[in-house]
Amino acid sequence: MQYAKIIGWGKCTPPATLSNEDISTVVDTTDEWISTRTGIKSRRVSHVGTGELATVAAKRALDCAGIAGEDIDLVLLATCTPSTLVANTASYVQQQIGATGAAACDVNAACSGFLYALQNATAQIRAGMVKRAVVIAAERMLWHVNWAKRDSAVLFGDGAGAVVLEASSEEFGLLATKTGCDSEDREILHIRNFGTDIDKHDSAQPSDILFQGKDIFKRAVKGMSEACDDVLSQANLALEDIDMLIPHQANLRIIQAIAKQLQLNDDKVMVNIQHYGNTSAATIPIALCEALEQGKIKPHSHIMSAAFGAGLTWAASYIKWGERVTPIIESKAELPECKQTGLEIMADAIKYCQ
Ligand code: ACO
Repeated sequence: MQYAKIIGWGKCTPPATLSNEDISTVVDTTDEWISTRTGIKSRRVSHVGTGELATVAAKRALDCAGIAGEDIDLVLLATCTPSTLVANTASYVQQQIGATGAAACDVNAACSGFLYALQNATAQIRAGMVKRAVVIAAERMLWHVNWAKRDSAVLFGDGAGAVVLEASSEEFGLLATKTGCDSEDREILHIRNFGTDIDKHDSAQPSDILFQGKDIFKRAVKGMSEACDDVLSQANLALEDIDMLIPHQANLRIIQAIAKQLQLNDDKVMVNIQHYGNTSAATIPIALCEALEQGKIKPHSHIMSAAFGAGLTWAASYIKWGERVTPIIESKAELPECKQTGLEIMADAIKYCQ
């Protein structure tokens, strides 16, 4: 039997920040409202494109694995904010990391994108179609924000994370998964005025994220908890067996409600939304990297991950970690220097919306 072991991991969180205080200079909100309703204190703003964020995360994951880009057969990039649609942004990453022999494809399942892509790459490795894959999630969500509207302006951030998978006879990696899509309610979370349905665009409005927060909140808790239950039973595991839950970071209260539903103590739940906000597909690989940096993932840890996003897509995955929890090579991959503040980077976008 062949498995797809995770042998490398890396994240790229751009340096410029946008604090709740910064946002309250743009829209009518307060740090108190944002912190208590969402758990977010700050988020990162990218001064480079999604492709560059993805490239640095992928290079760090390759160094962590101690392999070169040329060893990779498949590049999957989960994103709903690609630098370019055609050519796909994965092809840019493939070029930048030197994975010249690899297939390269973008995957769009919004916030569930990383788990969808991980499932896809794992299945290809387990079927013997490829030997090594890099799975990346990278987003520049702040470019979809309408800076005239306080409801969405406070929620999102930019960032990227990646893992490297390798075919192995050892039973590690993604071992059970459940993905789905409740398309009957796809309208409750969408980006308007974006895409080729030009006849449906409203030229009086900007392109921005529209959502019914309360409905999404309830569906996210139910959808992610049920998917986790399904995955546990597929893997023949009990909740007590799970060492770490890495949930999508959309709202601290959603994460707490899932933890309560699954009866998991706080020390078994990875939370970093306070620093990054909702980076869509990138929240899970960024949180995975930070759980490793903080020593929360140990050799052979049982990890559960769950996500919910536009579509309405959802996913849960059980990952059994391997032996190694530290990088083989400390990566030197860096973004170009950023000389602007978060507010300076977003200044034109903010002016456009007001
Ligand atoms: N600052 C101050 N007040 C605000 C803000 C803000 N940024 N946003 C909304 N309010 C006000 C509203 O105007 C409303 O005022 P009113 O009572 O006078 O009418 C009040 O706060 C409550 O607004 P709600 O929208 O009902 O607030 P809620 O408690 O539902 O929190 C939130 C909103 C954070 C979006 C929550 O519903 C949520 O987390 N939903 C799920 C996540 C989500 O939808 N994310 C976006 C999609 S991406 C995804 O990851 C799936």
